[in-house]
Amino acid sequence: MKAFIQIALFLASAAAVVATNIVTFQSLDNITRTVIFTPNAGLPEVKPVTVPGGHNVSVEFPEGWIGNCYAVQKGGDKNKPGMLCEIMFQGWNGCTYFDVSAIVNPNDLDNVREMYPKGSPSPVSGCPSFPCDHAYYHPDDVQTQSTPETELICTLGANGLSSLSNLSKREERPPVGRNYVLGKF
Ligand SMILES: *[C@@H]1O[C@H](CO)[C@@H](O)[C@H](O)[C@H]1NC(C)=O
Ligand SMILES: *[C@@H]1O[C@H](CO)[C@@H](O)[C@H](O)[C@H]1NC(C)=O
Repeated sequence: MKAFIQIALFLASAAAVVATNIVTFQSLDNITRTVIFTPNAGLPEVKPVTVPGGHNVSVEFPEGWIGNCYAVQKGGDKNKPGMLCEIMFQGWNGCTYFDVSAIVNPNDLDNVREMYPKGSPSPVSGCPSFPCDHAYYHPDDVQTQSTPETELICTLGANGLSSLSNLSKREERPPVGRNYVLGKF
């Protein structure tokens, strides 16, 4: 019985160290959007979520998930990818890799805006006002950011809105190539 309890406690503590991967979509305006997720081939689907204007909606991701997402405004075409948030959890060195990419649709200015670790304004990817030099425009740009944290914020809103002002600045980590977030080495 004692051994059983010890094993149970061991399993409980082992479970507790498994990271919870979360992206919180933070709406900066009053427009309702649907966020649509595209996993890398062979990885689990993540269901679309509705983010009402002015609200935060947190989405949990499976261990090691790699993929992207884009946001579509109410009434918009959900099959048309836009500005992308690209994510890789438990990537190289156990870190979370992320970036905002305009490569597929640089004209989608009013939806996905910026990504950064929860509680820290840096490193940040994306733009308070598009275009800027903090997003991918070309595949060989070096804009992918990394963090040991497993919780990210992804802001949604009209071009020009920023939400980073009240967060304290943290040490910058040098950006890396896009292969880190795509899971291709
Ligand atoms: C949404 O915000 C815009 C800009 O602040 C404002 O002009 C508009 O009236 C708001 N719409 C609603 C439905 O609150
Ligand atoms: C959304 O989350 C951000 C970051 O944690 C927080 O600053 C903001 O107050 C939240 N907004 C709402 C409406 O809960």
